[in-house]
Amino acid sequence: MNKIIILDFGSQVTQLIGRRLRELNVFCEIYPYSKVPAIDGSVKGVILSGSPCSVRDANAPQVDLSLFKGKVPLLGICYGAQYIAQRCGGEVEGALAREYGRAMLDVVRPDSPLFKGVEAHSQVWMSHGDTISMLPEGAEVLASTQDVANAAYHISGEDTYAVQFHPEVYHTAEGSKMLENFALGICGCKGDWTPASFIETAVEELRAQIGEEQVILGLSGGVDSTVAGVLLNKAIGNQLTCIFVNNGLLRKGEYEEVLASYRDMGLNVIGADAGKDFISELAGVSEPEAKRKIIGRLFVETFDRYARTIENAGWLAQGTIYPDVIESAGIPGIASKIKSHHNVGGLPEEMNLKIVEPLRMLFKDEVRRVGRALGIKDELIGRHPFPGPSLAIRIVGEVTEEKLRILREADDIFIRGLRAYDCTSLGLPNASDPRLTASTLYDAIWQAGVILLPVRSVGVMGDERTYENPVALRAVVSTDGMTADWFRFPYDFLADISNEIINKVRGVNRVVYDISSKPPATIEWE
Ligand code: XMP
Repeated sequence: MNKIIILDFGSQVTQLIGRRLRELNVFCEIYPYSKVPAIDGSVKGVILSGSPCSVRDANAPQVDLSLFKGKVPLLGICYGAQYIAQRCGGEVEGALAREYGRAMLDVVRPDSPLFKGVEAHSQVWMSHGDTISMLPEGAEVLASTQDVANAAYHISGEDTYAVQFHPEVYHTAEGSKMLENFALGICGCKGDWTPASFIETAVEELRAQIGEEQVILGLSGGVDSTVAGVLLNKAIGNQLTCIFVNNGLLRKGEYEEVLASYRDMGLNVIGADAGKDFISELAGVSEPEAKRKIIGRLFVETFDRYARTIENAGWLAQGTIYPDVIESAGIPGIASKIKSHHNVGGLPEEMNLKIVEPLRMLFKDEVRRVGRALGIKDELIGRHPFPGPSLAIRIVGEVTEEKLRILREADDIFIRGLRAYDCTSLGLPNASDPRLTASTLYDAIWQAGVILLPVRSVGVMGDERTYENPVALRAVVSTDGMTADWFRFPYDFLADISNEIINKVRGVNRVVYDISSKPPATIEWE
């Protein structure tokens, strides 16, 4: 498959370069700068990312440009641009002032293939402490800003381009156009990597990889495992057995509904109903980490018990996605991304299963697009993330059946309310696909839930004094769960939900809204 290789020098926005190319239906792969893959016929171009380092540092990250420069089209971005300049005989100096933020770009060579159809003056985003003071011999300036003379250049006689700003970030108004000019124009990529073409290739590859063996997949009700399941089902049909564990801590009706929709989709799925085990082992435990450990252990034990019943199993499928796969560039002092949580059963080693990860090259929004192309219902595709330990970490303190009942009722009212509220007129972006406008509050929110608090307060209902628990509503916007902001609800919605919960849920006499962002708070309370 034709692709563009992105070499990562540790910039925080390297993944965005990949995202932008994928939006153009161009397949690309991100590698750390120290692990350049083979530049074979499938590689149509190479992009060098930005970096927190300076090319003038003694231990600046290095790459052997001769592996690809002059052989395939090359685009240097920020550090990448400075690195190419320095290596080819130009000069890079510390800028007088750190060049950070918005600047206006003046294109001086509108005839350059990189700037085809780009406005003569447009906003770009700069973020660097160095600047190219002298271009290499044979290089020509393509664009400048007021402070940066060599904002973009081209090395003549070859398809080597470089820009000192970041075309991949949203603040660079014409950035996508420039990346399109590079990928589709200069590199000659076709832009034919669509969900449909991905599915077609993936189905063939999965069949070849798996052969006649049986595959086990843990379904969680979440988007990734669901899409992985439907894709595998399309490829290998009844060689796939899915296991969906009921930990007894799921939302109201969730186990039955999700299991039914998996069966509707034709998946061969075993419902592993172990709710009682979880609830009984959680009795008397109130410390959050202890609760998590019990749930994690029981999940693995349950999954194993069912997995062992599947004969001739050769493979364990996982819903791993691309952000989990991308290796960090390993720049000293730069912390690599904190791993997201996986809902994966640890299987006994003696089962000796090989791992198959059909979604390992997809970003989250691509998983959703592939899911839609596979015909999975929007209700499943657009589902909010839900933590593996489920409602147990939304009941602060000890988990009991009675508290689960209260929380399930309140949560159900909240989530149904979010789904019912038409917010089209607010023009909010859809949290799972920002190119769409959210039609309901549920779609506008990245994740929402209710938390049951272990305090009691006094209220009055009719003529009766009540002494019951409060619940907290939680709703956040986020892109990856690493940072999050609380959602600004219309007051009428909060008023209606509060009334409904207090009137209908026995055991709750007060509703509060959690207005903490992450950091410093987290999304879940435990
Ligand atoms: P926090 O609470 O750390 O959560 O801000 C970030 C995201 O991760 C989810 N989460 C989990 N997911 N297993 C999971 O599969 C877990 O143990 C777990 N803990 C938190 C949380 O719901 C949010 O989306």
